[in-house]
Amino acid sequence: MKVMVVGGGGREHAIIKKLRESDKIDEIFALPGNGGIAADAVCVPIGAKDIAGIVNFAKDNNIDYAVVAPDDPLVLGAVDELTRAGVPCFGPDKKAAIIEGSKVFSKNLMKKYGIPTAEYSVFSDPAAALEYVETCPVPTVIKADGLALGKGVIIAQTRDEAREAIKSIMQDRVFGDSGSNIVIEEFLTGPEVSVLSFTDGKTLVPMVSSMDHKRAGDGDTGLNTGGMGTVAPNPYYTSEIADICMKTIFLPTIEAMRKEGRAFKGCLYFGLMLTPDGPKVIEYNCRFGDPETQVVLPLLKSDLFEIMQAVTEERLSEVNVEFSDGYACCVVAASEGYPSSYKTGYEIEMSDGVADSVYVAGAKTENGRLLTSGGRVLGVTATAESLPLAIDAAYEKVKKVKFENMYYRKDIGRRALLALKEK
Ligand code: AMP
Ligand code: GLY
Repeated sequence: MKVMVVGGGGREHAIIKKLRESDKIDEIFALPGNGGIAADAVCVPIGAKDIAGIVNFAKDNNIDYAVVAPDDPLVLGAVDELTRAGVPCFGPDKKAAIIEGSKVFSKNLMKKYGIPTAEYSVFSDPAAALEYVETCPVPTVIKADGLALGKGVIIAQTRDEAREAIKSIMQDRVFGDSGSNIVIEEFLTGPEVSVLSFTDGKTLVPMVSSMDHKRAGDGDTGLNTGGMGTVAPNPYYTSEIADICMKTIFLPTIEAMRKEGRAFKGCLYFGLMLTPDGPKVIEYNCRFGDPETQVVLPLLKSDLFEIMQAVTEERLSEVNVEFSDGYACCVVAASEGYPSSYKTGYEIEMSDGVADSVYVAGAKTENGRLLTSGGRVLGVTATAESLPLAIDAAYEKVKKVKFENMYYRKDIGRRALLALKEK
């Protein structure tokens, strides 16, 4: 079979490496992929948002199956167009992808169906939003309605910060039209857990839980990033909590989407906070998380392609989805200065067969050399039978990767280890 994966980051590299284990697949194309992915798939220079280009490529090359991984093409309707062209897909259609594409939609959905989440108000008028933050409790959380490259959430510690956030999102439009509506919500506290799940709209199978590390610096300091590392499973996510989430969040969500005529098929990502009042939804994503995928898929024992096809064909209940009992840790290596300003074009060197454990996020090949081309450059994952061993192994492997100005957090998994000790 000829399979095409839309996207070009570390997450897509992890999906592609896992798909390569399936003996049903003969050839994998990545659109656009990247210099590192080129070792595992044929990269085609078609951007992930170029829906017409993607569909034409699929038709011209007799693609048998497509995996649409990033949020943008999903929200733009790539799956609808590919399906119309006769290409079976993994990923939600446009109607279902709105669960990530519009925070106003997802908040209203949760309210309507009694799914636990932070209290909130929606505003389309900046003056009304500014008036509201004069009296609401602080800290408060301000979210642009639409996609904003993962940056559309501002935690305002003070009223001044809240006013600033409203002005920059709604008036200066720093996130473009994503900011025409905003959600202002209650600030929640507690450990965060990411749970990715496979769902065909009727059945939902959670994958192993994970923990992201979003801040740039050790000890969760510095700016928010696209994710500096992950561990799986997340020790805060006990089997009791998993049961509660299944009953109060996961199943109610897919049922709600079905009732709204928006059945969700693909990977539904639950960003959860384990608050003193129980687990609550912080956000939904309509796709695999990055860099969560880089720890979750290495622990998957079953054939990813078989699961994906079962999701498309709405027979997920018939397939086996099995994860190993082990642990995984992914350490992301970035270019110094990320997420603000950083340079690119540094040569990446890897030794001792570490490439198998590397998921490349931002690199290009030039004259046979692999050069950095982004802020987050790559992630290195190790799996082991315990969390401490997985963390140590990931840090050992990171040492086998080198590029100028490389930096990575030294404490990925530290909080998870503390949680394990507290148990
Ligand atoms: P996102 O960019 O949507 O992944 O969200 C960024 C981060 O903001 C989340 O991972 C949380 O740490 C934080 N966050 C979002 N909503 C809330 C909330 N209601 N209370 C506390 N923290 C939040
Ligand atoms: N790691 C968070 C995300 O993928 O949105």
